[in-house]
Amino acid sequence: MKIFITREIPKPGIELLQKEFTIEMNPYDRVLSKEEIIQGVKGKDGLLCLLTDPIDKDVIAAEPKLKMIASYAVGYDNIDVAAATNRGIPVSNTPGVLTQTTAELAWALLFSVSRRIVEGDAFTKEGRFNGWAPMLLLGQDISQKTLGIVGTGRIGTAFALKSKGFDMKVLYTDEQKNEQLERELGAKKVPLSTLLKESDFISLHVPLTPATNHIIDEKELKSMKKTAVIINTSRGPIIRETALIKALKEHWIFGAGLDVYENEPEISNELRSLQNVVLQPHTGSGTLETRTKMALMAAENLLIGLKGGIPPNCINKEVFQKRSIR
Ligand code: DGY
Repeated sequence: MKIFITREIPKPGIELLQKEFTIEMNPYDRVLSKEEIIQGVKGKDGLLCLLTDPIDKDVIAAEPKLKMIASYAVGYDNIDVAAATNRGIPVSNTPGVLTQTTAELAWALLFSVSRRIVEGDAFTKEGRFNGWAPMLLLGQDISQKTLGIVGTGRIGTAFALKSKGFDMKVLYTDEQKNEQLERELGAKKVPLSTLLKESDFISLHVPLTPATNHIIDEKELKSMKKTAVIINTSRGPIIRETALIKALKEHWIFGAGLDVYENEPEISNELRSLQNVVLQPHTGSGTLETRTKMALMAAENLLIGLKGGIPPNCINKEVFQKRSIR
């Protein structure tokens, strides 16, 4: 069988697939266009794709014998899962292995913004540090403050649990009650409006869906404390970027830490020019250990799926129910 990999991933994943399949891989170190992905998928049984690839109905329809799509990411808002399900194609993702790594980056951003680490680094390297000064680069304390977590799935929960050493009051929003956070941290489930009003630090951990698109807009940013810090390591469109820029420019809030962007990879010049925002190039899962685990997980799912089994991380298991009914 033949598979197409839309961009080079860590070797162990590729080696696992090479043992069983003929591989064609994007030879360039860049995101492929939709047309290039369609060309790549032609004649293939399996597709290993990334979160940067638009896997829409045209890509899914490009090859009649396409049997399985394995995504090298936990978020799958870039894939038309319904179209894949309609065609009986299982789709898998990489949950769990990147949970701690992404939660760690959210904390790194929280610290960087609150203690103005990036500004301090530039200031010091530029030779502007002339000695201790009482009013130099004053930030925000973290311990004993209120932490607000929007979405307490795997990553939101891991992020919340890491607050233990900082003795924080924890608020969260989620459709489900999070027993673990309530038991271990005394966390309280509140409406989003309460969380935004009362939290000192707000971290977003919801998947991108029509219901979460722009849940943080002008009104929400205006309701936050002037000293608040907002962190986004989930998906860019959760925040309306133009509203955030306004909030940062006019100091409605203290700052923001972003790993994801509304029109990724484009980032407006205005956002890039602001001092009170720390920007990362979507590296939430970006450690060699985690990316290797993701590569192995995606490869294993593809391997099992193409051999006719149920991929362990299949997100549209109904495909198999349909098969057994037929
Ligand atoms: C994912 O896997 O969805 C993350 O955004 C990667 O950083």
